[in-house]
Amino acid sequence: MEEIVRELTEAYGPSGAEGRVRKLIAERIAPYVDEQRVDALGNLIALKRASVSPAAGRLMLAAHMDEIGLIVSYIDEKGFLRFHPVGGVFPLTLLGGRVVFENGTLGVIGIEERWREDKIPPLEKLFIDVGATSPADCPVRVGDVAGFHRPFFAQGTRWVGKAMDDRIGCAVLVEFLRQVKESIYDLYVVFTVQEEIGLRGAAVSAYGVEPDVAIAVDITTTGDVPEGEKMAVELGKGVAIKVKDSGMIAHPGLRRHMVQMAERTGIPYQLEVLRRGTTDAYALQVSREGVPAGVLSVPTRYAHTPSEMVDQRDVRAALDLLLRLVAQPIELGN
Ligand code: CO
Ligand code: ZN
Repeated sequence: MEEIVRELTEAYGPSGAEGRVRKLIAERIAPYVDEQRVDALGNLIALKRASVSPAAGRLMLAAHMDEIGLIVSYIDEKGFLRFHPVGGVFPLTLLGGRVVFENGTLGVIGIEERWREDKIPPLEKLFIDVGATSPADCPVRVGDVAGFHRPFFAQGTRWVGKAMDDRIGCAVLVEFLRQVKESIYDLYVVFTVQEEIGLRGAAVSAYGVEPDVAIAVDITTTGDVPEGEKMAVELGKGVAIKVKDSGMIAHPGLRRHMVQMAERTGIPYQLEVLRRGTTDAYALQVSREGVPAGVLSVPTRYAHTPSEMVDQRDVRAALDLLLRLVAQPIELGN
């Protein structure tokens, strides 16, 4: 699985520019799905039919293809680029970093001189240097979007890369499609667009798929770093089953079912209550008249930086739990 994680995390794909990631995923899953299509917003919607007939219903699984980025807002007379964030971009993660545009142009992030000392600069005080000397010789235009440029690495049990949020979720679903043999549900596996700017792809794809149950696979932060927040999620301790984040409360019946399945099958799991952030499941849950929705999260350190770190064992646990969940009826309780 490491190769697909490497490929996916190194691929270019900020929100609204997910085409390369979509193409890569479409190629990888083609041998394992019955149908796939791309909707008006760019979501990749794959269907793998149930292994029994009739199917127990439609189960939607979602992971977002997009990553955070920087969009060019202005090019000055010397060819320096000013930018706005696409999604949650923080100044501390940028200085001296490298970014890449869709056309392959690389850029370095610099800072206005008087901010160099000790203050955290607002994004407006930073700029991208692509080596241009004027707007005329600048290889990118206003509206072009850059993503972090950073290679993947594996070390011990850890995987590190940019855009682990949420290419690790995409990788789990690609691997899931490759491995799943038994499913009582028609599986709608959706690789969504524009999560980082407001869950837009999930909203429209859920409306189209009309699932009976929906599960997002995404990342969550952890409490296991120095002076970290008191949060009961650690790297290497298993897949996180979301209880609540700042956008939603996971369907309690679905969450209990996932916990029971993990306990019965000995898959390591943790319960997640996340203070800040949400996932596609928020949009899935409020689609049409409401959909029971939950989240399997991969614990991730340094989220929204160029070096997001996950643990292979947690990724494996997420995959194993998904494979188990689709083989039997999902008991939602009442
Ligand atoms: Co994110
Ligand atoms: Zn995410």
